[in-house]
Amino acid sequence: MSGEIGVGLVGYKFMGRTHSNAYRQVSAFFPEVKLRPILRAICGRDEAGVSAAAAQFGWASYETDWKTLVARDDIGLVDISTPGSSHAPIAIAAAAAGKHIICEKPLANTLAEARQMAKAARDAGVINMVMFNYRRVPAVQLAKRLIDSGRLGKIYHWRAVYLQDWIMDPNFPLVWRLQKDVAGSGTLGDLGAHIIDLARMLVGEITEVTGLTETFIKQRPVLAETVGGLGAKAGTEMGEVTVDDAALFLARFENGALGSFEVTRFAKGWANGNQFEVNGSKGSLRFNLERLNELQLYLDEDPDVAGWRTINVTNGEAHPYMANWWPAGHIIGYEHTFTHAVFDFLNGVADGVSPAPNFDDGVRCQAVLEAVERSAGSRQWVEPEYE
Ligand SMILES: NC(=O)c1ccc[n+]([C@@H]2O[C@H](COP(=O)([O-])OP(=O)(O)OC[C@H]3O[C@@H](n4cnc5c(N)ncnc54)[C@H](O)[C@@H]3O)[C@@H](O)[C@H]2O)c1
Repeated sequence: MSGEIGVGLVGYKFMGRTHSNAYRQVSAFFPEVKLRPILRAICGRDEAGVSAAAAQFGWASYETDWKTLVARDDIGLVDISTPGSSHAPIAIAAAAAGKHIICEKPLANTLAEARQMAKAARDAGVINMVMFNYRRVPAVQLAKRLIDSGRLGKIYHWRAVYLQDWIMDPNFPLVWRLQKDVAGSGTLGDLGAHIIDLARMLVGEITEVTGLTETFIKQRPVLAETVGGLGAKAGTEMGEVTVDDAALFLARFENGALGSFEVTRFAKGWANGNQFEVNGSKGSLRFNLERLNELQLYLDEDPDVAGWRTINVTNGEAHPYMANWWPAGHIIGYEHTFTHAVFDFLNGVADGVSPAPNFDDGVRCQAVLEAVERSAGSRQWVEPEYE
């Protein structure tokens, strides 16, 4: 370890907790990290809430205005863990102030905003990354190795679903994730962005899509409080849901593979069912986030032993990131993926290279999201506008 960097984190709820934990864990478990993060300030609009979060998660100070945080000289890394509508203004200001940036996914609420953010980071020469943390599940990295090394042969199919069920009750309130002006879109940008990013990493670029979206419950009780997380309390007045509850699309990849994607918050029984399967000419693999230490693999083998196997991806000698945790078989969890991402990002800052997925990857993901929305509107096949 050769130096340190002051971190300022905007947002202190769900992602604020996961990112705080990652900054606290990274140098303890990855002592080879090239820059040690110092938890300088956390930011939120509610002083009582953010000061409690600062104390709970170990931040040295707090701010109630992100502009003050971005302007601080003792902060070199700005982490954006707020809803999508604030990503662009914070990132553009942070880039102008010369700060390196981690931004939560999806990069922005629109393709135009995402492009502006990527340009701002490029012009300022700051290191940037989008927090598509599922890339850094060891089993997903193993899947990438197997595909890239040709063990699966030519890839024909990508099949992914991301299934949740937390808003099926019609009385569930109109939280920010159900408001287009704050969230950008519904399941498409929230869940679809993750599986588009995984598809881009594992299979390649998407050349065209055809999709459909649906909002099953069009009116919901507005919040009794103005700010609400997943456990928010509803009032009696009704308001309009302005995002999709579910989205499905088909895709063609540049390499000839075909993809199917399905995301929904109406799949009863699924809390966080992020799953994908890849079929190649010599084998197949599949992954389910709710069993994230495992990768299932089928390879062409002698017929008497052919069959799906389940690999426990926890062997430090064979599997990415695992040498820094526990002995083989001692499983890890959701929070570790953020520590891995922060580790790679801090090394990226030290080396002067933005680790994937950087803001340009975020723009390409956003272009696919935007193409699906256009396709759902026009009922036509649509090509993502990457340029
Ligand atoms: N990588 C993942 O797996 C993952 C999972 C969940 C959410 N996310 C993303 O993280 C982001 C935040 O989601 P969340 O679940 O943490 O939401 P949340 O509602 O739990 O927390 C949002 C936080 O942002 C703060 N905030 C909102 N507007 C602000 C502003 N203008 N200035 C300062 N603070 C502000 C809120 O006070 C709150 O602390 C979203 O972009 C979401 O898509 C990513």
